[in-house]
Amino acid sequence: MKRNIIITGGAGFIGSHVVRLFVNKYPEYKIINLDKLTYAGNLANLKDIEDKPNYRFVKMDICDFEGVLKLMQDEKVDGIIHLAAESHVDRSIKDPFTFAQTNVMGTLSLLQAAKAYWESLPEKYEGKRFYHISTDEVYGALQFDGTLFTETTKYNPHSPYSASKASSDHFVRAFHDTFGMPTIVTNCSNNYGPYQFPEKLIPLFINNIRHRKPLPVYGKGENVRDWLYVVDHARAIDVIFHSGKIAETYNIGGFNEWKNIDIIKVLINTVDRLLGRPEGEDMDLITYVTDRAGHDLRYAIDSTKLQRELGWEPSLQFEEGIEKTVRWYLDNQEWMDNVTSGDYLKYYEDMYDNR
Ligand code: NAD
Ligand code: DAU
Repeated sequence: MKRNIIITGGAGFIGSHVVRLFVNKYPEYKIINLDKLTYAGNLANLKDIEDKPNYRFVKMDICDFEGVLKLMQDEKVDGIIHLAAESHVDRSIKDPFTFAQTNVMGTLSLLQAAKAYWESLPEKYEGKRFYHISTDEVYGALQFDGTLFTETTKYNPHSPYSASKASSDHFVRAFHDTFGMPTIVTNCSNNYGPYQFPEKLIPLFINNIRHRKPLPVYGKGENVRDWLYVVDHARAIDVIFHSGKIAETYNIGGFNEWKNIDIIKVLINTVDRLLGRPEGEDMDLITYVTDRAGHDLRYAIDSTKLQRELGWEPSLQFEEGIEKTVRWYLDNQEWMDNVTSGDYLKYYEDMYDNR
């Protein structure tokens, strides 16, 4: 079956893996990557597929209602996979407005454009799908008591980032309940892997260890995150987009909890070993700094529903995934240098028109 799908935020970390998977796996589909190319969007993430005939990139803000509506009409879009967002918690503490604008208003604008286009068609919502990618952070924070976030855990966001994502999740569900839009929401745990912007823990620390720069550990390093290899998230998105039930929520995660300080030690040992340094030599780079404001203690996802109902499970064990990831960043220093210098922004600045 032919489908025309907009993937928003496809030039970002997770979005680029989703675009790559869909472009390669479904040559009969047209995949339209709609991305504003903020600091976090980088078309170098998609070099390997940019010339494929079933791929199109459109530089556009999700807040541009008219632009998105016209694009949907022109391309006869029947599916939206929505990843575009401001995604970094520390930035949301400094600048919450941008998070409300993109994550809340942008999602609402996208929903309105999809509603306007799909309701104008004779078949209306039949065969359509609006799939919103969200985060486990909307559920708040767990104690060290073995409990897990399930799909029915009450929303309790603490950061401006998670508050904005929670709000966007509510809007998506409201469009199902009010207008009958065929929506799906998924909430995933922390992703790691290639092409992640080096403001996030894992790529930032790999790069710092390589260059022997201090590793700023927030608080005591005892906060727990639940890590999933990004390609496994993309595989879950594929399964859920095609087989998930309308109006349902699915949690995505690999039952893989780590204390920050323990993961940091794994990173140091792995980078040292791969660079031929004595393992653990760089432990003295660990530098405890002031804690993040409102720092959530623990996240842990129960993905039993997804595994039981749709048969998805992670393909990689953490040890294998982290080894692959460290290798990738060490082998792709040019990508890292472009990103940290900001050169990638200048390069793509004038290359694309808005429409
Ligand atoms: P990212 O910051 O790497 O990428 C975000 C992308 O969205 C960038 O390409 C950026 O240019 C684009 N974008 C931002 N504002 C836009 C706008 N107004 N219009 C169009 N495009 C815009 O983010 P990520 O880590 O890949 O996260 C993608 C999605 O997955 C987000 O919705 C995030 O909340 C969610 N999520 C992320 C994680 C994680 O661990 N990274 C985990 C669970 C869920
Ligand atoms: O849980 C899913 C979320 O995971 C996503 O929704 C977010 O978009 C994504 O950014 C991520 O949020 P976190 O805040 O958990 O990720 P981050 O990489 O920023 O931090 C991971 C942990 O490491 C967190 O406990 C804070 C800590 N940390 C982070 C940085 C950048 C440090 O100790 N030092 C640092 O310099």
